[in-house]
Amino acid sequence: MLILGLNMFHADASAAIVQDGKVLFAIAEERLNRVKHYAGFPTLAIQACLNAAGAKISDIDHVAVGQDSDANLAEKVRYAIANPARLLNFIRLRRRKQEMREVRELIARHLECDPQSMRFQEHHLEHHIAHIASAYYCSPWERAAGFSYDGSGDFVSTMMARCQGNSIQVLDRIFLPHSLGSFYTMICEFIGYRKYGDEGKVMGLAPYGKDTYCEQIRELLMTSDSGFELDLEFFRPLGSNEGMQIKPDGTVELARHFSSRMVELFGPPREPDAEITQRDMDLAYAMQHCFEEVLFHLLNELHKQVPLENLAMAGGCALNSVANGKLFARTPFRHTWIQPAAGDEGLAIGAALHTYHSVLQRPREFVMRNSYLGPEFSEEQIEGSLRSAGLKYTRLDRGALLETIATRIAEGDVVGWFQGRMEWGPRALGNRSILAHPGLPNMKDVLNARIKRREWFRPFAPSILEDKQAEYFEHDHPSPFMLHVYKIKPQKRGQLCAVNHVDNTGRLQSVKRDENPLYYDLIRAFERKTGTPVVLNTSFNENEPIVCAPEEAINCFKRTRMDTLAVGPFVALKAEN
Ligand SMILES: [Fe+2]
Repeated sequence: MLILGLNMFHADASAAIVQDGKVLFAIAEERLNRVKHYAGFPTLAIQACLNAAGAKISDIDHVAVGQDSDANLAEKVRYAIANPARLLNFIRLRRRKQEMREVRELIARHLECDPQSMRFQEHHLEHHIAHIASAYYCSPWERAAGFSYDGSGDFVSTMMARCQGNSIQVLDRIFLPHSLGSFYTMICEFIGYRKYGDEGKVMGLAPYGKDTYCEQIRELLMTSDSGFELDLEFFRPLGSNEGMQIKPDGTVELARHFSSRMVELFGPPREPDAEITQRDMDLAYAMQHCFEEVLFHLLNELHKQVPLENLAMAGGCALNSVANGKLFARTPFRHTWIQPAAGDEGLAIGAALHTYHSVLQRPREFVMRNSYLGPEFSEEQIEGSLRSAGLKYTRLDRGALLETIATRIAEGDVVGWFQGRMEWGPRALGNRSILAHPGLPNMKDVLNARIKRREWFRPFAPSILEDKQAEYFEHDHPSPFMLHVYKIKPQKRGQLCAVNHVDNTGRLQSVKRDENPLYYDLIRAFERKTGTPVVLNTSFNENEPIVCAPEEAINCFKRTRMDTLAVGPFVALKAEN
């Protein structure tokens, strides 16, 4: 049985294909059309899913979409009536969303195929149920608490659920305009980060701040018996487009979230190119601090209703790896399973698996043990790309490749590492990564000057052999998808200086040999040379979506000052090219 899952006309449009309950392939449209956070129809992603399964659209039995415009209608209508100025827009938007429900027609139009050839059944699943499904049904658990939170989806910002066997029972929803995601976005915008997806950057700024504004911020984000509430005086109304706009070219633009009340209280907002002041850092600190307080309050409330140790979590805010790293100390949950594509691309997998397990009541066997669900390329394809780019390269066998690359990293090279299937989700986890020595004091500056050009305050992440994690980090709960930040042990901070953030933490990836033998063995080879079982790992890209195909990796190598490129078994050196 083939199920196609979709996230469409929403940020991070994507497609996933599930065969007999197993996720075969999943990809965000941005990786293929190269438009960051693309929010149109995932035409190329659907085609890639079909190719991976060797199927035609006529072979698909079910199509599941992680969005349901009929969900929470009563709440939407209540909000629209209370805000008559936006009533017309609400009606217009609703009509547009209804049009988007015609999945058959959309697929026929975008994939240029005959609607008569399609025999699939169509399913629409509420946004946050799809998020929770993307975590729970990928986890190895039979029982768990389910939690999803983000800016908004189907008029909801937060959902809590009891997950058992094949069912996800919704216990609670928090409706717009109250949203932890909107809260975070609002402060990020105020301190000058106004692009969709900038929130992750500002998280790195928070530890540079002090506790100056927590009390004031607590007044605009208050915990309550029902969960939390925003003081709406500080926010511009989100309106019926729920705080963002999708442009005709599929790019996403954020609406301004903060109101003049913020300016009265904190002074003028920071312009994107202006210097970052202590005020901005202190606001970032308060934002992260208060966000965590509310999150842990919600999770503790959830635990009262679902008193288990397992927490299955997704939603864009679940990418807040700093909060994730602290939840073991601040809540009774002991194990997390967080969907690597916690943002909205993950809806495609959630909707498809929900159809299989909850709608069709098929048994659960699949566990998502790694995130390598994207495309891979044959040696012939890679070699063809190297040739047409005119690069000088050498082909090495496995042992020589590991030895050469480990030596290069140990000697201070910046290495582009492109292997196997592309990662699903926003993190590069050793298949589309740029790797470097984590113990060279200037490595962060070198990477920024030569390739990444990131904000000075953003840390780089460590990939560590899973069996060495407890030696280096103060927590041993695995972080396979780079979604937890832990403190680095004091005696190891010098050894990991290029990945040690200002608060002595690292957003680690625990690497297990079973899930990525080549990457594990590379880190092991590096350890043999240097005594450090860790490499610095940052995504393989330069101001673009993460590279997907060999040509994109080669282009990135050519236009940046990367020293070495390893694409499959082929190695190219900058010095020779
Ligand atoms: Fe979402």
